Amino acid sequence: MCGIIGISSHKSVSGNIISSLKKLEYRGYDSAGLATLYNGEINEVKSKGRVDELEQNFNLKDLKGNVGIGHVRWATHGIPNSVNAHPHSSENVSIVHNGIIENSTILKKFLINKGHKFKSQTDTEVIVHLITENLKELELEGAITKTLKQLHGSFALGIVFKDLPDLIVGARRGSPLAVGYGPNENYLGSDSYALKSMTNKISYLEDGEFCIIKKDHVSFFNDEGKKINKKILELSSNEKVYDKGDFKHFMAKEIEEQPITLKTGIKEYVDSINEDINIINFPWNINDIKSITLVGCGTAYHSCLMAKYWFEELTSLDVNIDIASEFRYRKNRFKSENLYIFVSQSGETADTYAALDLCKKNNMKTCAVVNVIESSIARDANFVLPIHCGPEIGVASTKAFLGQILILYILSLKLGYLKKDIKTEDYKKKIKELKNLPKLVEQTLLIDNEIQAISSTFNEAKGSMFLGRGFSFPIALEGALKLKELSYVHAEGYPAGEMKHGPLALIEEGMPVVVLAPRDNYYKKTISNMQEVIARGARVLLITNKSKDEVFSENVWEKIEVENTNDDLLPFLLTIPLQKLAYYSALKMGYDIDKPRNLAKSVTVE
Ligand code: F6R
Repeated sequence: MCGIIGISSHKSVSGNIISSLKKLEYRGYDSAGLATLYNGEINEVKSKGRVDELEQNFNLKDLKGNVGIGHVRWATHGIPNSVNAHPHSSENVSIVHNGIIENSTILKKFLINKGHKFKSQTDTEVIVHLITENLKELELEGAITKTLKQLHGSFALGIVFKDLPDLIVGARRGSPLAVGYGPNENYLGSDSYALKSMTNKISYLEDGEFCIIKKDHVSFFNDEGKKINKKILELSSNEKVYDKGDFKHFMAKEIEEQPITLKTGIKEYVDSINEDINIINFPWNINDIKSITLVGCGTAYHSCLMAKYWFEELTSLDVNIDIASEFRYRKNRFKSENLYIFVSQSGETADTYAALDLCKKNNMKTCAVVNVIESSIARDANFVLPIHCGPEIGVASTKAFLGQILILYILSLKLGYLKKDIKTEDYKKKIKELKNLPKLVEQTLLIDNEIQAISSTFNEAKGSMFLGRGFSFPIALEGALKLKELSYVHAEGYPAGEMKHGPLALIEEGMPVVVLAPRDNYYKKTISNMQEVIARGARVLLITNKSKDEVFSENVWEKIEVENTNDDLLPFLLTIPLQKLAYYSALKMGYDIDKPRNLAKSVTVE
């Protein structure tokens, strides 16, 4: 998704802007650009496609200037082309923008009436002209304050001015924005990750605030244009270089890293000696929590659904789950005895953040399960449970999913134990079995050959289905999501018991259907549902767990067996073949696996 970088320095900035934009590439984007101030002019270059193309299309070494802004764009208003790429500039002002301006149509009419000419189809261009207009009668701080008040929607902005050649203005509402401090230069970035190679000293803008960045000084202002002070935070500087190693894609590497993700999570939260779970500094009395609401988007929402099954199984808590984009606009009945849990890899997903913000404004108990601990969601929640899976670069979430469900499982176990909903011996037994999970995932990861052989059937089909019941249902949804986002093949996830109520009509001769039927409480029921789709011509890939008992697999097209463990933990193992199925299908099609079309890693617009 869109990313911003800005640098005000004592030396030329275009090289560092380009390398920072490359750091933002993992977010997914479709065009890129930058603008520098030099010799009383705004020098703007931008093009469709990747930052590499921008470098090929323009001689960026000649792009002089000690102050500049850069952007990677993920199209919202207007197709991805070089005209709609950012920065957008008037004669005096140049802007990069993340977010959406909801009243852009009205503002555009107003500005056209004032004589402003528009070049692009974007909502962003109205900001350029609005500031230009306001600067006619107000000094800088006043013009920015007025402009921000006129904008509806969400934004993170980086702005430079032809007549103010030593500064960058940054402003935030809804979309995150960080300021970094360096030697003889200061920075603006849409996330601290983009700035980490230059500095570990960071301040974050809050909603409504703006800042003026010069090479040797940064000032901050509130939404009324009054100067405010900001804390400078020091980020951990132990960032290791994260590359693909010997893997063809980050996704392949991240799938294989899952045993490490689980080991790290278990090490962090499980006290092996006492067979107990440590959730340090949990800020509430357990008796004050009667129910839980889990909120997320996409894969993170599937983690919430998975957790619902565990929380219901292991605790007496009432459990609700919600998709963040729905939660934030519904009439929620906020309850003080409810714990709201927000699940997110990036910690920057706009809808999840807005849902958290809504809970905060209603003084609710909020907890975040996140990977990026410097993120907005992590910063704003009352309590944070980090996933600790390291950077996830592939747009399709893999290790973060396993990391999220691990933390949620651990939390459900602990709360169940504290609430005396599970017996001590069961609690200890489950912890013991959990410690063995990374090893089982490692063994399950060795199924490459079987999966590779099967994967092309899914590409060649018109569509496919993923079925599961109980603990396997969320994993069926996740498997379908992975396949559709990577291979662009239609894939539906369904509870197997729901097929007769409509979806069975889609089954036709040869349609590939994945059936998740581990030997758990639902096994026999799922096998019956499987026979119903086989009877209608489906080619069933049955995924179950290893067992002494022969699986009832008559007429099954292919069968894959994952390792064996207790029912709670089987979802972790069932996920692995589905991730690999999506990976190998996309590989056969030659698709851009780490950056699937139209998608972004960090979804910072709603
Ligand atoms: C799918 C995927 C997305 C994300 C979703 C939420 O593979 O990665 O569905 O899960 O965009 O992102 P986070 O977890 O960053 O809030």
